[in-house]
Amino acid sequence: MSSMEYSKLWLDWRRISDAPDFMKTICAEAHSAQGKAALSELREGFVAMTGDEPAILSECSGACLHMVETDDTGEGYAFSAQGESLRLEGGPRGLLYGAFDLLRGLAVGKRCFNGSAAPRYPLRMLDHWDNMDGSVERGYAGNSFFFEDGRILNGPRIRDYARLLASCGINGCCINNVNVKAEAVRLMTPKHWPALAELARTLEEYGVGLWLSVSFAAPMELGGLETADPMDERVCRWWADTTAALYNAVPNLGGFLVKADSEGRPGPFTYGRTQAEGANMLARALAKQGGKLLWRCFVYNCTQDWRDTRTDRARAQCDHFAPLDGHFDDNVLLQIKNGPVDFQPREPVSPLFGRLERTSSIIEFQIAQEYTGQQKHLCCLIPMFRDILQFRLYHRPGNDRVADTVSAVCAVSNMGRDFNWTGHDLAGANLYGFGRLGWNPDLTAEEIVREYTVLSFGDDPKITETLLPMQLSSRAVYEKYTAPLGIGWMVNPNHHYGPNPDGYEYDRWGTYHRATNTEIGVERGPRGTGYTMQYRLPLSAIYADIDTCPEELLLFFHRLPYTYIMKDGRTLIQRVYDDHFEGCAAAEEFARKWEELEPLLPQDVFERVRLRFDEQCRSAREWRDVINSWFFRRSGIPDVHGREIY
Ligand code: GCU
Repeated sequence: MSSMEYSKLWLDWRRISDAPDFMKTICAEAHSAQGKAALSELREGFVAMTGDEPAILSECSGACLHMVETDDTGEGYAFSAQGESLRLEGGPRGLLYGAFDLLRGLAVGKRCFNGSAAPRYPLRMLDHWDNMDGSVERGYAGNSFFFEDGRILNGPRIRDYARLLASCGINGCCINNVNVKAEAVRLMTPKHWPALAELARTLEEYGVGLWLSVSFAAPMELGGLETADPMDERVCRWWADTTAALYNAVPNLGGFLVKADSEGRPGPFTYGRTQAEGANMLARALAKQGGKLLWRCFVYNCTQDWRDTRTDRARAQCDHFAPLDGHFDDNVLLQIKNGPVDFQPREPVSPLFGRLERTSSIIEFQIAQEYTGQQKHLCCLIPMFRDILQFRLYHRPGNDRVADTVSAVCAVSNMGRDFNWTGHDLAGANLYGFGRLGWNPDLTAEEIVREYTVLSFGDDPKITETLLPMQLSSRAVYEKYTAPLGIGWMVNPNHHYGPNPDGYEYDRWGTYHRATNTEIGVERGPRGTGYTMQYRLPLSAIYADIDTCPEELLLFFHRLPYTYIMKDGRTLIQRVYDDHFEGCAAAEEFARKWEELEPLLPQDVFERVRLRFDEQCRSAREWRDVINSWFFRRSGIPDVHGREIY
C-alpha cells in the first residue's frame, strides 16, 4: 500500500524515454494564477518524466519550452514548434489546458506539437450529489471531500481535485446535491460565504468554476415568506437581493442548478406557474450578476398508480418542456438527462434534445454508476456517451447531432474520499473520458480509453492489450447480464444494486415492464403511449416499427411475446437466456485476464481491482440466475441448450 493519502490517478507522470530537449528549460512569462499553475504543472511533470529539474528562466536562447501568456480570456491555446524549441501561447486558462495537453501528449509518446486547440463547449461540468453532513447521494467512492459535519472543506485535496478536472478539460463543479437538504439550503446565508469564497479561489486557480444547487422554496425556508411563487414580487426581490449579496461575497460563482417539481422537490407547479416562469424568475436574479441558471428537466409524475397504463414516464420531459421552447431567458440552460427515463444501462437518446430550437440545453450524463454497477463492476461508459453525442436527431438540415445541439455538458460525479477517488481504479476512465469528450466530442472512445490506460497504468503493451478491449466492451457485457433489451430497471428498490425483476413493478415510480406469462414490455409506438412520436422523422418511424427498431432497444419501445423471432432467428426469450450466460461468462473472463497483469501492476492497485472483479463475478452470476429464472418461471419456455435455470 502506498503511503500517500490518495492516488494521483492519471496525473502520476512516469519516466519517458527520448525526452525532447525543450523539457530542460522553461522560458515563462506567466502572470495570472492559472498561468502560474500551468508553469508549476509543467515543472513538476518535467521533473517526473525526465528525472531532472528544468531551468525556469524569463529569457532564453537555446532549446526551451517558451510559455507565453496573452490576455485572451478564452480557453484555447496554440503550439508552434521552432527548431528544438516549442512555443505554447494562450490566455491564462488556455495555458493551463495547453500545459496538460503537452504533459499528456509526452506521456503517451507524442513528440511533435503544433497547431491550436479550444474546447467545443464553454461549460463542462461535474455535478456532485454531496450533502453537508459528508454523505454522498448515490456515492460509491466514500464520503464527500467538500463537506463534513455541516462544514465546507478546502485544502490540498480540493486543489488536487481541481487539477484532475482541469487536466481532462472540466471547468465547473456544482458541489451540493440537487436534492437540497436542510443545512445545504443555508449555503444561501452569509454564514457559509467566506468558506465558499475560499473554495471558489482554490478551484479558480485551475479554471474550475463553483456552482450551487439551490432550493426553489428558499424564500420560505430562509426568507420568512409564506410563498415561493415566482410571480410574487416579494419572492423575486428576495432572490434578487440574496443573489446580489452572495455574488458580492463570491464574485466568481458560475450560477445555480435547480431541481424543481421533481421527486418531491418544490417548484413553480405549486403556484400554477410554468417551468419557464419559475426558471426565468431565478435567471433574472442571476443575470444581473452575470450568472447562469441550469434548470433540470427531470420532471415527471413519481406518484403514479401502477394500475394506470396511460401515463408513460418516458414522455414526461418532452410533454412538459417542448411546448415551452423559446420561453426561457438567455441565461437559462435546460439540463436534460441523456435518456428519457433515468440513467439506465440502455435507453434511447432523449427526444427533448431535438425539440428545442430556441432554448439552450446542457446534457446530463451520470458517471456515478448508480444503475451500471455502482463502481464495483467494470462498466466503462465512454463508448455510450460518445454514441449519444454523435446521435443524429434529424431536427434540422445538417449539424443535427446531439453534440451540435447542446450548449454544454455535465455529469453526475463518481468521486469521493476513497484512496482512488472513484472507488474502482478503472472507474477513473469515466471521469477522465467525460472531461475529454466535453472538450472534444469527436475523439473516439478508443483514443480516450487508451490515453487513460497508459497514463494510469503505464505503457506496457500487455497492459493496454488487456485493458483496452476489456474497458471498451464492458458496458455491453454489463448490459447482457442485467435487464434485457432496454427494458431497464429490474433492480432492487432504493439502493439500485443487484437484480429484482419486480422490484419497481407495483410501485409509484412509473417504471413498469408489465410482464404476463406470454409477453413483456410497454408499447410506446403510435398505438401505445405515442412516445415514439416525440422524435422527428425518420427516428419516430424507425422506433415505431418493430422490424426497424434497434434490437437492443426492442423492449424499451415495444410489448412483445417471448416467442417473438429476432433477426437472427432466435426467439426473444432465447436471446435473453443467451445474453445472460454470455454476459456472465464475459465478466468471469475479465477477472481472469486481470490476474495476468499481476506482475505488471503495483500490488495495491492489483489487489483492489481483483476484489472488485470478485464482487462483479458474484453479482453477475446472481443477475444471470435471477433474470433467467424469472423469465423461465413466467413463460415456462426452457432454454434450448438445457443450461441451468432455476
Ligand atoms: C435518480 C436517483 C436519485 C436522484 C435523481 C435525480 O432518481 O435515484 O437519487 O435524486 O435521479 O437525478 O434527481
